[in-house]
Amino acid sequence: MNSLLRIENLQMHYFTSKGAVRAIDGVSFELMPGETIGLVGESGCGKTSLGTSILRMPTPPGRYVSGRILVDDVDVIPLPEKEVRRDIRWRKISMVFQGAMNCLTPVYTIGRQMRETLVEHSDIGKIDATKLMEEYLGYVGLAPEILERYPHELSGGMKQRAVIATALFLKPEIVILDEPTTALDVIVQAQIINLLKKLKARFKLSFIFITHDLALEAEISDRICVMYAGKIVELGANARIYGAKAPAHPYTSRLLAATPRLFGNADQLQFIPGTTPDLISPPEGCRFSPRCDRAFGRCFQEEPPLVEVEPGHMAACWLNGRG
Ligand SMILES: Nc1ncnc2c1ncn2[C@@H]1O[C@H](COP(=O)(O)OP(=O)(O)OP(=O)(O)O)[C@@H](O)[C@H]1O
Ligand SMILES: [Mg+2]
Repeated sequence: MNSLLRIENLQMHYFTSKGAVRAIDGVSFELMPGETIGLVGESGCGKTSLGTSILRMPTPPGRYVSGRILVDDVDVIPLPEKEVRRDIRWRKISMVFQGAMNCLTPVYTIGRQMRETLVEHSDIGKIDATKLMEEYLGYVGLAPEILERYPHELSGGMKQRAVIATALFLKPEIVILDEPTTALDVIVQAQIINLLKKLKARFKLSFIFITHDLALEAEISDRICVMYAGKIVELGANARIYGAKAPAHPYTSRLLAATPRLFGNADQLQFIPGTTPDLISPPEGCRFSPRCDRAFGRCFQEEPPLVEVEPGHMAACWLNGRG
């Protein structure tokens, strides 16, 4: 099966006055049709930067440094903005931005805000836009009256549903969901996850699902992609990463050990000592080595490549004895 999206050795850095922040630093992976990849990692590891890069919308002062983003075998990085708007952004790949539901403008109705996205990214007229908005509100379980309401008149879950509907208007194949359930209570979280599963089946979507919440990720993802300091450190099947066997990267193991469980975990939660590195001058060798209790000589000098450690399972760690 051909991949829907192929990222090859992508580097996207933020060129700040203090230096280049190497937020995406050599990332490669493929997304298959109908697949959900869960992107996890600590705050600041580059999840949102990867999402906006894939959308061909890196936030200033972010710029692509190298690599390719192949959509239907066409690299979207060098495409003129006009072509990206016509063929790619929202039409092929859309994104539910981190915190989007809290960024709705309080003085405009939901309808006006949804319509603006629709009109800006397509040549659709006002009447057709209303029809389309009502149709899509139906898919996310909202009544058409919502269009006349202001954001403060909606619950968090309703706002997030409206944001999700907006991301689907132009029938994308890939939807990047950046923390779509953060700040929602667990019941609403579960409703949104179930809604996403339903929409995915109905519209044959593929997802890149970004979250801090590993338990939630396990619930929706086919494969799990673990990022640390601008790089992928482990990528494998959900069942393998969250299964009985230990993950192949110590960072993934530590993330899992730091995840709270409701039952059967009487011990204290473990945290990862230290903090994520400064991405202007990241540590030499493996970027996780200063915080890794299993690091040895080579880890501090040489960067481990992301290699297949068993079929379909990649990791970037010298402990796996390869590379
Ligand atoms: N516009 C920007 N200018 C400069 N640096 C940025 C910018 N946006 C992000 N960064 C830096 O890039 C790195 C990756 O940030 P990013 O927001 O992608 O992380 P994240 O994994 O999404 O974090 P979180 O889980 O907190 O949302 C961080 O070091 C961050 O400070
Ligand atoms: Mg983020």
